[in-house]
Amino acid sequence: MNFIFTEENLIKIEALKLRYPSPQALCLPCLWMAQHQEGYISINAIDAISETLGIAPMEVYRVATFYTMFHLEPQEKLNVQVCKTLSCKLCGSDAILEHLKNKEVNIIHTECLGSCGTAPVMQINDTFYENLTPEKVDAILKELL
Ligand code: FES
Repeated sequence: MNFIFTEENLIKIEALKLRYPSPQALCLPCLWMAQHQEGYISINAIDAISETLGIAPMEVYRVATFYTMFHLEPQEKLNVQVCKTLSCKLCGSDAILEHLKNKEVNIIHTECLGSCGTAPVMQINDTFYENLTPEKVDAILKELL
């Protein structure tokens, strides 16, 4: 199935082209738009981004596969990104990870999510959850699942 950016996204991309120094730099926002539009990054979406930006599909693919927040397949379970970097580790991310092992979610270990002051932190879709405890995790998952 072909991937076609929505009219709204095409307008956003054209506006961003004026602000970004190179087509490669636009790769990340285009990947975000594609993922929000389709739920994941399909090969067809990679081709569409490549064509829209005038860069090789492999350049888009490399960016999509470098970052843990992009999904190259449809997601059946909730993706829970848990920071495993120092501040979060010192504040209990190991307990959060252990607690999540028994849940029906995909656990993704990530590097610093940029919210070290509120560690431990996890991210689900675009939402940050901070100052986590196992009890808080249960309450969050109860609401989302
Ligand atoms: S160390 Fe976890 S958010 Fe920075």
